[in-house]
Order: sequence, then structure tokens, then C-alpha cells
Amino acid sequence: MVKARRGYRCSACGHEAAAFAGRCLNCQAWNTLEQYQDTTRPGPTARVGREGALPATTVRLDQVPNEPGRRMSTDIPEFDRVLGGGLVPGSLILVGGEPGIGKSTLMLQAAARLAALGRTVAYVCGEESPRQVRLRASRLGIDGPGIILIPETNLDSALAAAEAAGVDALIIDSIQSVYVEGLETRFGGPAQLSEAGARLVGWAKGTDIATILTGHVTKAGEVAGPRLLEHLVDAVLYFESAESGALRILRAVKNRFGATDEVGVFEMTGEGLKSVDNPSSAFLADAGTHAAGCAVTAIIEGSRPLAIEVQALAVPSSLANPRRIASGLETSRLHLLLAVLARRGGHGAGNLDVVAAVSGGLRLRDPGADLAVTVALASAIEDRPVVPGTAFLGEVALSGAIRPVQQAPRRLAELARMGFPRAIVPRSTPPTPGIAIVPVATMREAIAAAFSE
Ligand code: TYD
Ligand code: MG
Repeated sequence: MVKARRGYRCSACGHEAAAFAGRCLNCQAWNTLEQYQDTTRPGPTARVGREGALPATTVRLDQVPNEPGRRMSTDIPEFDRVLGGGLVPGSLILVGGEPGIGKSTLMLQAAARLAALGRTVAYVCGEESPRQVRLRASRLGIDGPGIILIPETNLDSALAAAEAAGVDALIIDSIQSVYVEGLETRFGGPAQLSEAGARLVGWAKGTDIATILTGHVTKAGEVAGPRLLEHLVDAVLYFESAESGALRILRAVKNRFGATDEVGVFEMTGEGLKSVDNPSSAFLADAGTHAAGCAVTAIIEGSRPLAIEVQALAVPSSLANPRRIASGLETSRLHLLLAVLARRGGHGAGNLDVVAAVSGGLRLRDPGADLAVTVALASAIEDRPVVPGTAFLGEVALSGAIRPVQQAPRRLAELARMGFPRAIVPRSTPPTPGIAIVPVATMREAIAAAFSE
């Protein structure tokens, strides 16, 4: 194995010099500097030279096993759904969310279920003492054989302990509470996080141990922390929730082993997080009041349709610039839909403060909910409820046209299942059994149909 190092010399006399200010120090010739490979003296730069690198192992694509690998079910249906069917050995998963949303609770529950299925699980509790974890476990009804606690904040020591214990899965709660030795930077700071992430990727792949990290995202949306790890890890799951309320939504924003945008719906109870079997009815639990400003729609989250309610309120403002408050949808989307509603729908919110929210704390990303948001706003502005039992599907164009939505039949089927007899839909929507559809082309038509049978 020849190691080479790059050197510099004078092409006229061969004199070797590192600092060669234009003129050879030996023969005084100008501009004779040349680079050469010095194979006699392997130096610290040897790895940089192409010739010196060890060739990496190569694999022919057709010889790679054509199967996803055995997944470990966590036995928590909604968690498995978001993971894409379970934990893949050797994968690295980030679970992020605001403090107190339920990350540690879910981790401990997953650890208990995995242990009950005969897996060995290690839990690095960098944030809490083993006693605190034990207290939470007993609250959750977990007595915990098969769960090994590692109360350690030194990442390398924790990983070595997990490996020595021969675990199938490792949980690190949280990534901000462990540190990499030798880095003279702030605890939990960006340099620490990136280094820890890089080490963990290599470790998880090398040991084939499924590894889950939790990470805090602060309320103010300061995401510099866990977001730094997003590109490194195999899957990124974020918890969402309403300010109040017990529903917790776990969303896959990245998943190398499953669908993105898949959501798991949980309820936080006295005995920890419970998977919600029928999310639409959970989201509609506080709906159905037939109040002014409410409109129901069905959105597609990952692989399933969910019925949700959009709620809006409009009150006279005492401000020169009336307020626009959006929860669960982008404020810019609210501004846009208010503008279209004013210009194309004939309902201006001029000097009204407007608040819009989505039931259950879900974050709306699906443009198919535009029409429901717009109708909720119109209903709030007019202080008049929509016809009971009516749901809305449609994307709203700036022209006021109602555009088709993806997977309309599945959305309509979900609305029919939830007991909605009538839906106002974009024109080309095919009929679906169990629900009467009212096709509309423009926002004016949609609003007219919303307020009269
Ligand atoms: P936790 O999992 O500690 O949050 P995180 O790790 O994301 O910071 O959750 C803490 C909250 O959950 C706390 O407010 C109490 C509540 N909780 C319950 O309602 N029921 C339970 O069974 C448990 C364990 C916690
Ligand atoms: Mg925690």
C-alpha cells in the first residue's frame, strides 16, 4: 500500500520548498513551482491524495437483498403506522416536539412493548434520573423487565454500554442531553448535535441496532436543534398538538422506509398515550355544533382520509390593522383566502379581527381544505351557520375557481362514514355512494350552496 503525500518543488533545480514566494529560493528562477506526489514520505495528508486512499468495498446492485429487512413492530398501532410498519434494524429515527408534548412517554411505552415482545431495549435517560423514569413507568403500568436504563450523558460511553448489553433497540432521550467528548463547544449546541448525529448514523448502521432519538423543538419555533439532524437520520417524526386538548399527532416529515406525511393520532390519557382508532370522530368530537363559522372537510394525511372541522370567528376590530390569527394553518394562507373571498366571493373582512383554527390541533397542509376554510370564514363574517350536514372539498384558485382535489372518492367515503349526507365539491368530482354531491365551479356558487339546500 503506497501512501503518497503532495509536495511542491522547483521544476528547474528540483529544490523542495513549501513557501515559494514566486521565485525559487535555491536557483532564483521565477515561476517554476510544481506539485508532485512524494511517495517516499507518507505524511498526514496521505489520505487526501487519491492514490493513497484505501479502495472502498463495492456491491453490485443486483446482489443486494431485495427486501426491506425484518421490521420490529412496536405493538403501538399508530406509532407503527408512522414508522411505515415498525422499526427497521440499523435505522436512526428522530422524534421531535415541544417540551411536555409526550415524547418521553411514547418512548417508554414503545420500549415496554418491544420488551414484552422479547426484544432487549436500552433507554439512555440523559434528561431524567432513573428514579424519575421508574416513576413514569409505574404511572404507565410498566414494570420494565427487558428495559435497560443507561443514565449517561457521554454519548460514546452510552453507545458502548448499549452494544455491550446486546440490545435490539436503543432510545436516546434526548439528543440535546448527550455530549460528544473532545468537542469544546456548547452542550446541546449545533456542533455537538451534528457530531453526535454523525456518530449515531455510523453506529446504528454498523451495529444494526434501531436507534430512536428524541429532540426538543421550542414553542417559539426555534428549530435550529433537531432540524440540524434531519438530513442525517432515516426518519423524522414530529409531534403536533393543540394548545389545549389531549389529541397528539405524530407526523412523518421524512421517512426512508415508509410514506411521508403519514400521521399517527394519539390521545394523552392518565395512563399515557393511547392510539386513536377512529381519528375522524376524535377530530369531529368538538364539532357538529352547527355554529356559525364552522365547516367540515376531509383531508388526506399520508395514506388515510381524515374528517376535520375548520372554525373561524370574525369580530369588529378596534385596530387600524385588524388582526389575523391562524392556528393549524399558515397565516399567509389565511390572508390569501380572505383576499379571494373578499374579491371573488363578495364577503370582505375589512375591519374585522379574524381567527381561524383547525380542530384537534392538526396542521393543515392539504390545499383540498381551502374551500372549507373559505366557507368557514364567509359563515363567520355573515354570522350565519352553513346548512347542517354539509361538508366541503375543493382547492381555491386566485380567480375564485374551485379546483379538483386529489383522491376525492376516498374523502367523500370518509365523510359519508362520518354521517355527512351532503358535500359541496369541485365540478369534475365523480359521485360516491352514501353522500349527495353538489358540484360547483366558483366560490360564489359554493357559498350560495353552503347557505341553502
Ligand atoms: P413527556 O413525555 O414527559 O413529554 P416530553 O418528553 O415531550 O417533554 O410528557 C409529559 C406530559 O404528559 C406531562 O404534562 C404529563 C403528561 N402525561 C399524562 O398526561 N399522562 C401520562 O400517563 C404521562 C406519563 C404523562
Ligand atoms: Mg422528555
